[in-house]
Amino acid sequence: MDGGNCSAVSEFLLLGLTNSWEIQILLFLFFTVFYVASMLGNLLIVLTIISDHHLHSPMYFLLANLSFIDTGVSSIATPKMIFDLFRKRKVISMKGCITQMFFIHTVGGTEMVLLIVMAYDRYVAICKPLHYLSIMSLRMCIFLLAIAWTTGLIHSVAQLAFVVNLPFCGTNRMDSFYCDFPRFIKLACTDTYRLEFLVTANSGFISMGTFFILIASYVFILVTVHKRSSGDLSKALSTLSAHVTVVVFFFGPCIIVYVWPFPTLPIDKFLAIFDALITPFMNPVIYTFRNKMKVAMRRLFVKVLTSFRKSALMHSSRNSD
Ligand SMILES: *[C@@H]1O[C@H](CO)[C@@H](O)[C@H](O)[C@H]1NC(C)=O
Repeated sequence: MDGGNCSAVSEFLLLGLTNSWEIQILLFLFFTVFYVASMLGNLLIVLTIISDHHLHSPMYFLLANLSFIDTGVSSIATPKMIFDLFRKRKVISMKGCITQMFFIHTVGGTEMVLLIVMAYDRYVAICKPLHYLSIMSLRMCIFLLAIAWTTGLIHSVAQLAFVVNLPFCGTNRMDSFYCDFPRFIKLACTDTYRLEFLVTANSGFISMGTFFILIASYVFILVTVHKRSSGDLSKALSTLSAHVTVVVFFFGPCIIVYVWPFPTLPIDKFLAIFDALITPFMNPVIYTFRNKMKVAMRRLFVKVLTSFRKSALMHSSRNSD
């Protein structure tokens, strides 16, 4: 396409997080533990909610969907990052790079909308309790989830459309451990000022906007509850505090990554670890502290143990025949 003296870049060199061997071993342990824990935790949440009919309510279905998305979030960049820690040349192909960006933004955008849906669910449950089950019907849940995935997809494709055809010919060293728009665009050999602005607008302002919508909706719920009776307030607070924690952990790093105005201070590189690894890990931690969830997990554990014992008994009695 862009011929001439331009030798096309077909892969990127990821600079990773550090060059120190000792720190890399520490990071390896740290990342592996967090990754495995968040995969197991989130899968356990999905399994518990699906298998336990006490938890068949819109709130828990949405939570299961959030956990499912979180397994995706943590699997996009982390396994490669862990694998790359011990490689001298950490490379990613152009296709791999674009694939990573596509999934990061599809899944990330979906998670943002899902968090709004979860806030709406809490609003209906707390402010319109008598109509809760008729408003948040299964059909409504599925409809809202479909909107979440569609929005994520559109958000992702809308950004990719602007960058897939960028010419790359200069340096291919990317100071990061994964591919994302801000650093990807900077490597293109054209004037990228307007593109950078576009990405900041799309990703940065969407995450900031969503964040403020969420915080405003939580404040609105609390004010409504407070007007009605102050006794309900503490209950609402305990439900919402879990949500607010998730939201702050998810959006804080995200906003900084896209709107960070100081390119010489690579804080965003380290903050990206939060969204890639720590936030997906936080959800299980935050939600398993909730009482109903703990009880359900215990039930599931007992169920699995009993069936395991039964099959072991059957097996041994068959063997002794
Ligand atoms: C997501 O939510 C839908 C509808 O509420 C539910 O039927 C489905 O089981 C959930 N999916 C997961 C993976 O938990």
